[in-house]
Amino acid sequence: MRNKQIAMRESIIRQMTILAREHGAVNLAQGFSDEDAAPELKQLAMDAIAEDCHQYTDVKGAPLLRQALAEKLRRYNGIPADPDKHIVVTCGATEGMMIAFETLLEPGDTVLTFAPMYENYVLQSVATQLNVKSIELEAPEFAFTMETLERARDAQTQAILLSNPWNPIGKVFTREELQTILDFAIKHDLFIFRDETYEYLLAPGFQHVSIGALPGAMERTVTIISAGKTYSVTGWRVAYLVAPEPFAARLNVMHDFHTVTAPHPFQIAVAHATRLPDSYYQGLRDEYWHRKQILCDALAGAGFTWYEPGGAYFLWCDYSKLSDQPDVGFARQLLLEGGVAGVPGSVFYEPGKPRYSIRFTYSKSRRTIEAAAERLAKLRMGAAPATAVS
Ligand SMILES: Cc1ncc(COP(=O)(O)O)c(C=O)c1O
Repeated sequence: MRNKQIAMRESIIRQMTILAREHGAVNLAQGFSDEDAAPELKQLAMDAIAEDCHQYTDVKGAPLLRQALAEKLRRYNGIPADPDKHIVVTCGATEGMMIAFETLLEPGDTVLTFAPMYENYVLQSVATQLNVKSIELEAPEFAFTMETLERARDAQTQAILLSNPWNPIGKVFTREELQTILDFAIKHDLFIFRDETYEYLLAPGFQHVSIGALPGAMERTVTIISAGKTYSVTGWRVAYLVAPEPFAARLNVMHDFHTVTAPHPFQIAVAHATRLPDSYYQGLRDEYWHRKQILCDALAGAGFTWYEPGGAYFLWCDYSKLSDQPDVGFARQLLLEGGVAGVPGSVFYEPGKPRYSIRFTYSKSRRTIEAAAERLAKLRMGAAPATAVS
């Protein structure tokens, strides 16, 4: 039998989830809620199911949703998007990123991004034969300058990609940093791919600034936003791209041949969800902040330190007071002996060097976070086990 070789591997985040299930560990690895959707979201889905929306809709997205997104983009992101010209609704941000890579870049092009970086970017670039080149930023500030970007650029560089708030560390880029990225992109005529999946998940005192809203950014920016995290409905598979008109048209053609449309009833439900009152978003932020505090108290008690996040729902932790072994072994040991699953930090870098960080999520229910806290309180790390995660 013919066997095509592809240089893809299974996501390690998913592997940690499977291992956690097998060993009864509390899963703080994968960033999604382990509670069901909020009752108001379920109601929106049930109302949508009762409507006439069970066939294909427009490839670029249900008109009702694109209209609602255009209003939301104007209101929340400061971006004047035309619902018919600039928006393409996709099956999750995962499809959105994939078709952006496939449509706008050529095999061999370089995409610059900051590391630690969301694992999918690397695997999706492998699938599309792009070269994701990471710009490693260092704790405690994860800061950069124009010079940092210039040093990383090569002759094949066609795009710069960032997630803001930044998975996996939770950094929120400042307006000045976004301006530096924009100036760099304009100077070298690059696309900016901005993944703003966590745009509503902000720590107290932080504000979300969309790079696409800065003067001069629109014409080169492709925005990728998932509804999955904002409404805790990752299974609905509704996300969207915002791009200048000629690019949006091409993205739409590629999307047609991947999935045709995201599930129509859930598109309608998300259209209504975008009009939830501010209290919904504030409630979400307050709840995650509360969970974060419970987890931070437990992590501090166990000897971890972390980057103080401005957004998303991840804690990027240093465990040097607990162990000097590299992170894959440490994460496995913590899962097997401590009963808590996190993601070894090396997952978020290009392979090569040993790393010494671990990421935990506080996207889980209070009950799950409290269970993790109880286990962390009893943590006694012994000698490392012999096997590694992957
Ligand atoms: C930064 C970022 N972008 C995109 C996604 C995936 O979004 P979706 O579930 O809509 O494909 C995730 C999921 O964890 C993420 O962290």
